[in-house]
Amino acid sequence: MSNKKFHLSEEGTDTSIELPVLSSTLGQDVIDIAKVPETGCFTFDPGFGATASCESAITFIDGGKGVLLHRGYPIEQLAAKSDFLETCYLLINGELPSASEKKAFEQTIKDHNNVESSVEQFMAGFSQGSHPMAMLCAVVAAISATYHDSTDVANADDRNLTIIRLLAKMPILAAMCHKHFSGQPYVAPNNDLSYSENFLNMMFGEPGKEPNISPVLAKAMDLIFLLHADHEQNASTSTVRLSGSSGANPFACIAAGIAALWGPAHGGANQAVLEMLEEIGDEKNIDEFILRAKDKEDSFRLMGFGHRVYKNFDPRAKVMKETCDEVLAELGLDNEPLLKIAKRLEQIALEDEYFVEKKLYPNVDFYSGIIMKAIGISPEMFTVIFATGRTVGWISHWNEMLSNPYRIGRPRQRYTGYTKRDYPA
Ligand code: SDX
Repeated sequence: MSNKKFHLSEEGTDTSIELPVLSSTLGQDVIDIAKVPETGCFTFDPGFGATASCESAITFIDGGKGVLLHRGYPIEQLAAKSDFLETCYLLINGELPSASEKKAFEQTIKDHNNVESSVEQFMAGFSQGSHPMAMLCAVVAAISATYHDSTDVANADDRNLTIIRLLAKMPILAAMCHKHFSGQPYVAPNNDLSYSENFLNMMFGEPGKEPNISPVLAKAMDLIFLLHADHEQNASTSTVRLSGSSGANPFACIAAGIAALWGPAHGGANQAVLEMLEEIGDEKNIDEFILRAKDKEDSFRLMGFGHRVYKNFDPRAKVMKETCDEVLAELGLDNEPLLKIAKRLEQIALEDEYFVEKKLYPNVDFYSGIIMKAIGISPEMFTVIFATGRTVGWISHWNEMLSNPYRIGRPRQRYTGYTKRDYPA
């Protein structure tokens, strides 16, 4: 509790309430508004831009300074020194693993590196070419049936097993979505490979053929998963928390998170960025798109720019841009036209008064699509990759909520409909 207090009083009456302030270890303290209904009013905050929905110790973002910490560790340091599974362990458990803990964690994931044969039958119900996010959302919800009766969300061991199952199975399901979308045969998981090598092999390998994974691409894939791992109370994480607050099956909650992530304003932006760059087509067309992005009458937005929280560079975008340069150079694609358009677009946008005044900087989605395209991932799969990386964040928040006292989430509203009226006689 902070020593600060706020008083809410109504002009002209003696209605007044005291609102305690709860201190945070970093960032803004919070005003506890539980007593506000005593005034006869609700607070009103569409889009929750000024609302802290929960307590969390997992990730901290300082949007003004472009800071992102996972359990206190800066994302730049994790990107440089850690790997995706170690970061998963950190997000879930709160501390980095020892060497033996990391080895055991990796093996536990491998021990669950499979999906039931019924999943193939389920996937066969989708026509080839169905959007991979539609398939991923549905198939994750479907496997809730496999684990429903054996999962007690109030039991910590069941929750931990759920976390392992999801981390192990998401890459398999994601790769199956790619294979079904492109009409290719599935490739089985291979426990001789690392997490990201195994994913790339299931994506681009062929049944019965020896894996042949570029270490550079495997490292880039691992970094893409790491950079997407968690991001505080974003729309999809809040969706997982809200659905989990009713005690719903965790696989169903993750499916809800996948659905929320799909939108172009959120995780669907990476596919939209690539489509935008391809639509721009040439640097000479950039000015026209900048004008459209600034035109209030035009719904077009510069995809990959802007963020509800970051009013500075998204630190993930900086790391992603460096990786983009490395991967394209390694692949001999450093003259990739889309990269040149992206860099020119970023340079112009960052000098343009509209973007400067509104503090619109490149976000995590701006460069990720270019890397994924260079790796050979189709744009329809970009958000599936995002979801595969973000699963650890979603399930860590779910577990954090269920490991502490919680109530079902139930926002109220500002009602603007009819007053009571009688049905015509
Ligand atoms: C992710 O929340 C998270 O943490 C998300 C995420 C995560 O890891 O989970 O970081 C991942 O979703 C990144 C964001 C990906 N989305 C995009 O790149 C889509 C393009 N960006 C915009 O749609 C927008 O910037 C949002 C959705 C990201 C943020 O929207 P906000 O916070 O609701 O901001 P806003 O719509 O109120 O915009 C403020 C002003 C508006 O102008 P005014 O009405 O004040 O005149 O800025 C303008 C907007 O029109 N604006 C843009 C713009 N983004 C905002 N104008 C042009 N192009 C843009 N991209």
